[in-house]
Amino acid sequence: MANSISRRTLLAQGSLALLGTLGLARPLAAGRRKTPMVVYKDPGCGCCEQWVAIMQREGFVVSARNTSDMEPIKRRYHVGPSLASCHTALVEGYVIEGHVPADLVQKLLREKPKVLGLAVPGMVTGSPGMEGPNPQHYQVLSFDAAGKTAVYARR
Ligand code: CU
Ligand code: CU
Repeated sequence: MANSISRRTLLAQGSLALLGTLGLARPLAAGRRKTPMVVYKDPGCGCCEQWVAIMQREGFVVSARNTSDMEPIKRRYHVGPSLASCHTALVEGYVIEGHVPADLVQKLLREKPKVLGLAVPGMVTGSPGMEGPNPQHYQVLSFDAAGKTAVYARR
């Protein structure tokens, strides 16, 4: 009896360790910070909600600010018309415009390059929060306050 119980315990511990190895035991994984993020978005826009949900899943603590007047927000954070998408997010001093993948936001926060932020201009099918048939390839741009852009990643 005692034998079978301890074997079961060992099995349980083994599978937990395996989950950890596979990165599936996410809530337990060490080093995952809860990073606060502010997201300005239009209350009528569903894709913004989808993107927010993805960011929350990736460990960001999102406070969403609904506004139907996004223009002043874009202007304040140097998001020109060629960069603009629906929502504008602020995280650790960076501006994240549109459907930027979570892993690139995390990379940005790890590496802290001298840019103002990242943008996926427009509304690209296949970007996070914009899933759908016929996903498109797209570029994730970095930008500065002067409007200078560079390709940060391709997806
Ligand atoms: Cu959108
Ligand atoms: Cu949206």
